[in-house]
Amino acid sequence: MASVDVPVALLGYGTVGAAVNRLLTDSADDIERATGHRIRLVKALVRDPRKERDYPPPGGVLTTDFSEIANDPSIQVVAEVMGGVDPAGGYVLDLLRGGKHVVTANKQLVARRGAELFEAASEGGVQLRFEASVCAAIPVIKVLRESLVVSNVHRVLGIVNGTTNFVLTEMEAGKTYDEALAEAQRRGFAEADPSDDVNGADAAAKMAILATVAFNSRVGLEDVDYSGITAIDPLDIAAADQLDMVIRLVGAARLVDGQFDVRVQAALVDKQHPLAKVNGAFNAVMLQGDAIREITLEGPGAGGIETASAVIADMASVIGTMGTGFLQNDAAWRELPRLPSGDSTSPFYFRLSVEDRPGALARVADELAQREISIARLLQHQNGSGAALHVVTHEARVGALDDALVALGALPEVHAASRPMPVVSDRGVAELGWA
Ligand code: NAP
Ligand code: HSE
Repeated sequence: MASVDVPVALLGYGTVGAAVNRLLTDSADDIERATGHRIRLVKALVRDPRKERDYPPPGGVLTTDFSEIANDPSIQVVAEVMGGVDPAGGYVLDLLRGGKHVVTANKQLVARRGAELFEAASEGGVQLRFEASVCAAIPVIKVLRESLVVSNVHRVLGIVNGTTNFVLTEMEAGKTYDEALAEAQRRGFAEADPSDDVNGADAAAKMAILATVAFNSRVGLEDVDYSGITAIDPLDIAAADQLDMVIRLVGAARLVDGQFDVRVQAALVDKQHPLAKVNGAFNAVMLQGDAIREITLEGPGAGGIETASAVIADMASVIGTMGTGFLQNDAAWRELPRLPSGDSTSPFYFRLSVEDRPGALARVADELAQREISIARLLQHQNGSGAALHVVTHEARVGALDDALVALGALPEVHAASRPMPVVSDRGVAELGWA
């Protein structure tokens, strides 16, 4: 087979961009054998070409002038690995409208401006691929779009942020939050601004993308209820351990009576659950659907080389399907409503600091019972002159639990209430009759 030379460009040459070039160079023969194409980096857009870099590209590749990429007709495929919504969004739109295929690792961009980007791709007759934007090395977008095209996936549950999973597992081993986060940044897992990781915005963008592709209806970042791990302290981790659970930042997307519900929260996960065993910067995504029952994909969820493998796989897919655009049109072909936030249900954990006197527990149980919230597990231990109550509920409505916590906070016997965390203990397949 005659080899075809394919010049490509990058927007960005940081952790991921440098790794893409390293992998393209080191694996050039493998890529050529597999695809019949020799992919060659010819331009990379950066802010500061004089900066010291991990894997410096050959002279003349780095540029600060976007038009050198946009106006070069020999470049047909560009990977956006610079991050941020502006100016990355404008650049990607220009490239798509100008007839260039784009591969992106930028989850914020896809989750915030997906509709506009796919419209531009369609107008330009080109592909927009985004595998690297979700779970780095795990090919979950390809599985959802190509392998599971007829499986009616209605629940996606996962750990989709490597940085927070690394921080939480390091905290379990005794590191402080600050030490663990600094190490995640040093290893290249964290976003340029790590607040996106720790406040849940990164995971929320990924869950929005997964839900869009799984449910074929646009779910934007604004449709996701999310919070992060900034409020998690060693007391939470110890309390989870007492209940035979661990804390993980869990993303959940569900279809409920034709409405979607997508949320990201720190959750207590039963130690027997597959997600409890996902450690370090690894991610895992459980997909549940009619024909497939459950498929779990697990692997490295962050890191330069890990993400570069997905970027290059998308480039190879674009090059192999340039004439057809196989399944790379917009995944969102229908419009589903969002489930009202208060109607979402889950088992929950919360902690109360109460006075240790007769009737206190009865008052707590009564407030919960008035709102149809049933207690599944209860632990009490002495806490100074009072008591700490650890409460795990059965499945409860978010709205009912929020009301109950307001009422509990007003009781004279209750000194303080922690924020509630969802509990992940079953796989969700038994209740559907599949176990
Ligand atoms: P990074 O190390 O901060 O690199 C960003 C690169 O983009 C740098 O080369 C920077 O130039 C360039 N850049 C940024 N703003 C620019 C601008 N306005 N004009 C020109 N160049 C600009 O980021 P990264 O970790 O590689 O991440 C890149 C993207 O991949 C992000 O969307 C991130 O969410 C995504 N991602 C990252 C990972 C990971 O593990 N790191 C995993 C999956 C997805 P200078 O070098 O001159 O500063
Ligand atoms: N900062 C992200 C994470 C990179 O830690 O998961 C991968 O998208």
